[in-house]
Amino acid sequence: MTAPALPGAPFLAWRGHELTLEGHSLSALAREFGTPLYVYSRAAMRHALAAYTDALQGRAHLLCYAMKANSSLAVLQTFAQAGCGFDIVSVGELERVLAAGGSAAKVVFSGVGKRPDEMRRALQEGVRCFNVESVHELHTLSAVATGLGLRAPVSLRINPDVDAKTHPYISTGLKANKFGIAHDEALAAYRTAARLPGLEVVGIDCHIGSQITEVGPYLDTVDRLLDLVEALQAEGITLHHIDVGGGLGITYTDETPPDAGLLVRELLARVDARGHGHRELLFEPGRSLVGNAGVLLTEVLVLKAGGEKHFCIVDAAMNDLVRPAMYEATMGIVPCALRDGASRRYDVVGPVCESGDWLGRDRALAVEPGDHLAVLSAGAYAMAMASNYNSRPRAAEVMLDGPRAHLIRERETVSELFANEKLIG
Ligand code: LLP
Repeated sequence: MTAPALPGAPFLAWRGHELTLEGHSLSALAREFGTPLYVYSRAAMRHALAAYTDALQGRAHLLCYAMKANSSLAVLQTFAQAGCGFDIVSVGELERVLAAGGSAAKVVFSGVGKRPDEMRRALQEGVRCFNVESVHELHTLSAVATGLGLRAPVSLRINPDVDAKTHPYISTGLKANKFGIAHDEALAAYRTAARLPGLEVVGIDCHIGSQITEVGPYLDTVDRLLDLVEALQAEGITLHHIDVGGGLGITYTDETPPDAGLLVRELLARVDARGHGHRELLFEPGRSLVGNAGVLLTEVLVLKAGGEKHFCIVDAAMNDLVRPAMYEATMGIVPCALRDGASRRYDVVGPVCESGDWLGRDRALAVEPGDHLAVLSAGAYAMAMASNYNSRPRAAEVMLDGPRAHLIRERETVSELFANEKLIG
């Protein structure tokens, strides 16, 4: 059988019949650690990060890894050690950053619904900035900060009404979305922020969506932000940083997103052309730093001929990886070891009791029960979105780092699933 293509993942390679990640046999890892198993390459994460940092050399910038994409501690540690900050959306994420050795001073706190207790904790830890999403939030944050005798550094998240041309569920920069402050209400909101005693206006922020595969929407957005920066400057309100959010797409199958370096260079050129090159640039990339650094390994349990289709039933399910069920996302699925013989077209499905529990549809595979499959590009929004539906413990995770394979998360046990539950009386 000819080896299937491995799009987008430079650290995945065929070695003879064996699929390898960072030089490690994935079949061997599946046997050693069991399945379902997430495996990540640290080198791949660093490689993805370097595309941003190389292009930003010599410029005032902060890369805040959007940790919602993958918040496992060893992943955060990898980015913290590389000098990154973090984009967080809850106090739980803040605690993870601290537990992983990250610094609150490099944290931006995003999200449409922050609770006062979350604001308090973030202020006490000294986060770098709050990305505020409504005028109501400005008032609440000012009151919380004043109560602590502090001033909260704020950016306003502007909804630029730009079409990021991505899946409706992950598009966030349109007027119809719940996110941010409308562009035409932004000046008034900034004036309010500048007046409130517990706030210090420091920047401007946006995030227009995820899995974006074109540069154009970013440039349109930056233009909209710079219009505001200039209008505010004229009123004496100086914005020190411009946060362009995250959203850069990756190649799952045949998508052709721009390289992060290209995106950064085009953004810098636009910012410079408009005379704002002295301002610090912030980025909040998630998927583009980790997506192609990970795979999900699963074992084939049963091959079953249905009325119209053949099913390849595997031991990973929608609770482990919900992107196909939730967004009809197409992710590559390949065997960890190639077999000779004819392939057949299968729907690759999990054991969960839902028809929506599928990982891939109509895939040509030559497999037998007991074989291992790898779901590709599973480093982002995969383990982080895992659930315990059907009382299924969450998968284990392994981080490859050169010759070593570190177990970075033990497989959850069934008894842990109901450890906090109580019977009545
Ligand atoms: N900043 C903010 C404020 C965000 O809401 C997000 C993602 C990011 C940054 C990072 O975006 P990225 O660079 O990863 O595209 N679960 C979906 C994606 C949801 C994205 C939510 N926000 C998926 O699996 O496709």
